[in-house]
Amino acid sequence: MSSLREGPATVVRREDYAAPAYWIDTVDLCFDLDPAKTRVLNKMRLRRNPVVPAQALRLDGEELNVARVLVNGAGCSFKIDGNQLVLESLPEGHEPFDLEIFTICVPEKNTQLMGLYVSQGTFFTQCEAEGFRRITYFLDRPDVMASYTVTLRADKSKYPVLLSNGNLVDEGPLPDGRHFAKWVDPHKKPCYLFALVAGQLVAREQHIISRSGGKHQLQVYVRPGDMDKTEHAMNSLIASVAWDEARFGLPLDLERFMIVATSDFNMGAMENKGLNIFNTKYVLANAATATDTDFANIESVVGHEYFHNWTGNRVTCRDWFQLSLKEGLTVFRDQEFSMDLCAEPSARAVKRIEDVRVLRTAQFPEDAGPMAHPVRPDSYAEINNFYTVTVYEKGAEVVRMMQTLVGRDGFAAGMKLYFERHDGQAVTCDDFAQAIADANPDSDLARLLPQFKRWYSQAGTPHVQAEGVYDADARSYTLTLSQSCLPTPGQALKEPFVIPVSLGLLSADGQQLPLQLAHWTHAEEGSRTLVLTQASESFTFVNLDSAPVPSLLRGFSAPVVLECHYTDAQLLTLLASDPDPFNRWEAGQRLALRRALLAILNEGPVTTEPLDGAFIGAMREVLRHPQLDAAFKELVLTLPSETYIAEQLAEVDPQRVHAVREAMREQLASALQDDWVWAFETHKDNGAYKPDPIGTGRRALAGLALGMLCVAARHTGDAVWPGKAYQHFKNASNMTDRFNALSALVVSEHALAREALTRFHALFRDEALVLDKWFALQAGAPDRNGNVLPAVRKLMTHPDFNIKNPNRARSVIFSYCSANPGAFHRTDAAGYLFWSERVMELDAFNPQVAARLARALDRWKKLAEPYRGAAREAIARVAAKPDLSNDVREVVTRALA
Ligand code: PHE
Ligand code: ZN
Repeated sequence: MSSLREGPATVVRREDYAAPAYWIDTVDLCFDLDPAKTRVLNKMRLRRNPVVPAQALRLDGEELNVARVLVNGAGCSFKIDGNQLVLESLPEGHEPFDLEIFTICVPEKNTQLMGLYVSQGTFFTQCEAEGFRRITYFLDRPDVMASYTVTLRADKSKYPVLLSNGNLVDEGPLPDGRHFAKWVDPHKKPCYLFALVAGQLVAREQHIISRSGGKHQLQVYVRPGDMDKTEHAMNSLIASVAWDEARFGLPLDLERFMIVATSDFNMGAMENKGLNIFNTKYVLANAATATDTDFANIESVVGHEYFHNWTGNRVTCRDWFQLSLKEGLTVFRDQEFSMDLCAEPSARAVKRIEDVRVLRTAQFPEDAGPMAHPVRPDSYAEINNFYTVTVYEKGAEVVRMMQTLVGRDGFAAGMKLYFERHDGQAVTCDDFAQAIADANPDSDLARLLPQFKRWYSQAGTPHVQAEGVYDADARSYTLTLSQSCLPTPGQALKEPFVIPVSLGLLSADGQQLPLQLAHWTHAEEGSRTLVLTQASESFTFVNLDSAPVPSLLRGFSAPVVLECHYTDAQLLTLLASDPDPFNRWEAGQRLALRRALLAILNEGPVTTEPLDGAFIGAMREVLRHPQLDAAFKELVLTLPSETYIAEQLAEVDPQRVHAVREAMREQLASALQDDWVWAFETHKDNGAYKPDPIGTGRRALAGLALGMLCVAARHTGDAVWPGKAYQHFKNASNMTDRFNALSALVVSEHALAREALTRFHALFRDEALVLDKWFALQAGAPDRNGNVLPAVRKLMTHPDFNIKNPNRARSVIFSYCSANPGAFHRTDAAGYLFWSERVMELDAFNPQVAARLARALDRWKKLAEPYRGAAREAIARVAAKPDLSNDVREVVTRALA
């Protein structure tokens, strides 16, 4: 993190990587914690790196006051050069030496939430990526790994709990009501994994004995009022420990593993060694305050941070360009964890569809916009801007393709080899790919490794065109797959990727056909994965009695855009019968998208009936289907988002996109009215609340049905369903049902919505995470007469609003600017003005959150006039501000380039 507000930002390049000139072997830190003046004594043992030419020691530090520097116990001269402390006359030779640095920082003034800060009277740290330098002078880079001993001293009544990484080895009283705790971390680590917490906290505790017999103490620390919301996080942690051991043979390597929740956090959570720090949003849950989505997110984030203990902490990144080494791999692992916890295969498919939906609505636009970058970026001005959906979600898809190419067992063998080779090291994405390939020498991955690694070096989403020709005489079907990828900033030409395409063939009446490539001796049942490596390749299938319907890219086997000229009839066949649930869902999305695009591209006013009988009938079939799960039905019956639709257009009129999608929704609501009634009535009662896939799916479908019934009622003026929604809202026994009912009223703009919102606020005035939902729902509400922006400005004056709290800022500002396109893109440009004001306001105290908001206008070049011109002006207004952070400057500069 750097809020360098002087001079042009320096660009860091991957090719400039050089090993550090010094190593730090041990660190002994002693903190005297005080919000206004915290004293940090840092005693290090260093030595020169023998393979690097002798040079001065340059330590990173930011917003620190230096009181003393001693080398081997004696005072020494140093200079401060920008954000570095420079020591030029150090002992010669390769003997280790001691360096002691005493500095002072001011946690209560730390609004960026990087380094040491105070949240609700409790001290927290956040060091990834470059926050440790805000605590003490250090070689703040991940390839410098040291052993840490940490002593914390603080007032005992205000800070009874003192935590850091590793094991507690000593604690006791000190004079003047103070006390201390001493922690030793048994594992070497890079400084970005350092953490401390000090405050009034309580813990849910559980002792477990792992598969391999190890005894461990698990703890979830929260504020005293939140104990009743910790059970799910603890259960998720226990499940994570068991899963990593069962699936990958990776045990917990610590006696004690702690999670601590804070309500002031820039991101989701952080994998500090043995002391994970979490945004409360990803820890706290009970049936009354959290939705099914919250429960699922907690499970996956707890898993994610826990899995980092091996993929990130035991083996870490050589430099920050390798971020996806830990993040892509760990997202892949948390996705697999959530899927493996599903008992039913259909629930696994639901999870896969949800993950792909995130990839396509967030990562594909990133890959097509001004911030496009490879999974392993080549340069950055501010590393915090590269914690992106590309590094995380596309990175996970790259790992998933490796697993597809070597098989599940082959991948597990590759992971084993990766740890055998690299445990305790700081390595690169190349090292990972090499280990997976080397463990599978006969695989396609090993054969194609240099080409496969283009997924790491080339940005942009590949497009795959599929064309099939049936030859009735030869009884054969030739499928031609071609790939291309548009230029991205700094990368004009792309070389072909290695693209695994899983596929099957169906007959016109939906039977799965045997697959036999021309040169095979026999046919195979079901799916097969072809590997596309050339710009264009043809595959001929034989022994086919009629033209097949191809089911391509099953399970979304590669992160590409598949272009295939399906007829409606073919898509209807896939929707009705594809044994691959992902493609079944995808067929429905394609049918809907096709209708949306037609209505958008038509001349004249938006039609009120974009949908036809065939589509509506197919949706009814799915909704009423006797075998399909509720969760799957809910996904199929949900139309593609406005963001996803917009991405398919060369030029976007956001108001028209919004109007067309609304018209589709209204038509689907009215045309299926009886079916929605049936769906609601048969799915609304679920007994005792349990956030499992079955219950979650049933509540999701009942919620969708209720929302649709309120939409339909808006047109007929009928008061029955809004009335039922209000009753349902009042009587709900869990947050999912309650919130779905509330949002049905808000989205249909029924008069009862006001009353319900007031009641909801009164019920949950002391629950910060629930109030976030309350704010977000209003900022994300449909806009009819430009009413949302004034409502958002008013919400910002609400006594519960606090822009300094990232969750609350996101609930109002991001919900409006990033998640409500129909209200944000106004012909009078007032939405963009609001955006520019908020980016600049946030940047003054929290550049990371500001830079995320800055990305809301990433796709401005695609907008039609008058939006496009107005958006450029708004971005230029931000760019013209002289004292911007590096974070925001990089985003707006790239947007205008
Ligand atoms: N490393 C964290 C994760 O993905 C994310 C994070 C990055 C949190 C930077 C805080 C700061 O699990
Ligand atoms: Zn992570």
